[in-house]
Amino acid sequence: MNRTIRHSDRLEGTVSTAGDKSISHRAALLNSIADGTAHVSNFCVGDDRTSMLGCLQGLGVKITECSDCDMCSDEDCFEVAGVGLNGLQEPSDVLYAGNSGTTTRLVAGLLAGQSFLSVLTGDDSLRSRPMGRIVDPLREMGAGFMGRNGDTLLPLSVRGGDLNAIEYDLKVASAQVKSAILIAGLYANGRTVVRSPGQSRDHTERMMRYMGADVDIDGLSVSVQTSNLTATNVRVPGDISSAAFWMVAGAAHPNASIRLNNVGINPSRTGVIEVLQSMGASLRMENVVEDKSEPAADIIVESSDLRGVEIAGDIIPQLIDELPVLALAAARAKGETVIRDAEELRVKESDRITATVKGLAGLGADIEEISDGMVIRGGRKLRGTDVRSFGDHRIAMTMGIAGTISDGETSIDEADAADVSYPTFWRTLESVSGPSS
Ligand code: S3P
Repeated sequence: MNRTIRHSDRLEGTVSTAGDKSISHRAALLNSIADGTAHVSNFCVGDDRTSMLGCLQGLGVKITECSDCDMCSDEDCFEVAGVGLNGLQEPSDVLYAGNSGTTTRLVAGLLAGQSFLSVLTGDDSLRSRPMGRIVDPLREMGAGFMGRNGDTLLPLSVRGGDLNAIEYDLKVASAQVKSAILIAGLYANGRTVVRSPGQSRDHTERMMRYMGADVDIDGLSVSVQTSNLTATNVRVPGDISSAAFWMVAGAAHPNASIRLNNVGINPSRTGVIEVLQSMGASLRMENVVEDKSEPAADIIVESSDLRGVEIAGDIIPQLIDELPVLALAAARAKGETVIRDAEELRVKESDRITATVKGLAGLGADIEEISDGMVIRGGRKLRGTDVRSFGDHRIAMTMGIAGTISDGETSIDEADAADVSYPTFWRTLESVSGPSS
């Protein structure tokens, strides 16, 4: 479905984003294999949630929407009836991960620990994304995998069990791969160690520890020993990756003031805040809550005179999903922004380097693709036109925010791709900017 966004003279409002997708997925998966029943509230919304919960239900876990527990004052509360470490059942059908890379990779780690047969698949985009990065270490631990293209593409069949611990050096700072190995490590003989080349999001190790697992974190090295998990209620904070669209909207639009309530500010995710502040964004936090598992805060962002910066190196894994919308901020900034070391963007839901550059160039930005990122010479006026989302939720939403800043009208194809992580995005955009068509 195409969606047309008109230039908006003012962006204003208060936005509460739904629960963080990465944290929700871990809370559901780890509670599924815990002892006892737990509630997860402010659960993420969208198609990726359906994918993760569908896979866990396919493995015999009872997960139901809940409306009357103590935590139901928050919306989207789910009850997860844990089956214990060894209580999963062989699925009677293929497990479908939809568009969700996190579901695929985390569930693959879980399946590696099970002696039964499972088959995992997903949509067109997911079936073209690299899975060798999880197959290699999980195979080294003893799990059997078969798949297309030399066992590197979905569909993948898995028969696991009898795992041995490994010490593994990740080739990319990927939280999904780290998490797959740590989850398999819960089932392995001995102590599994994963070393990362950079700090990626640490929700898995935090939550495992919070649930009683024997986890050790030493800088970029995380290890786990086989452990029983205790079912643990989780109140998921708002998703900083969804909030990032409004942070950029607020900072890059010349007449804006936006408040974001209850945003997760885990330090391994706050690269977007750091970069926007270094670009000169007027962005501040209030009501910081240092929860036992994951911190959160309200964020207030206002129109700012942005300047170009370099975004490269260790910070990249901490803002990997926010780079398309940060490129839009860069297009509005004075001077040059260079994004490097971000080749991982090429293997996301779309090739996000090409998709971002094509979209912003179409709107008139001076932007150029390089192999591992992009170069943006900011300050040009953006003019609405037809742009493509490439069926990618984050590209569709980046173009939506760009539409409010650009002159005239911007028409985005397959705009409903936003449903993957943020089904209410377009409605919120209307409430912040006034109606579009
Ligand atoms: C995620 C990790 C990131 C991110 C993805 C969610 C996670 O992927 O892009 O949207 O929840 O672990 P990589 O770990 O592959 O970089």
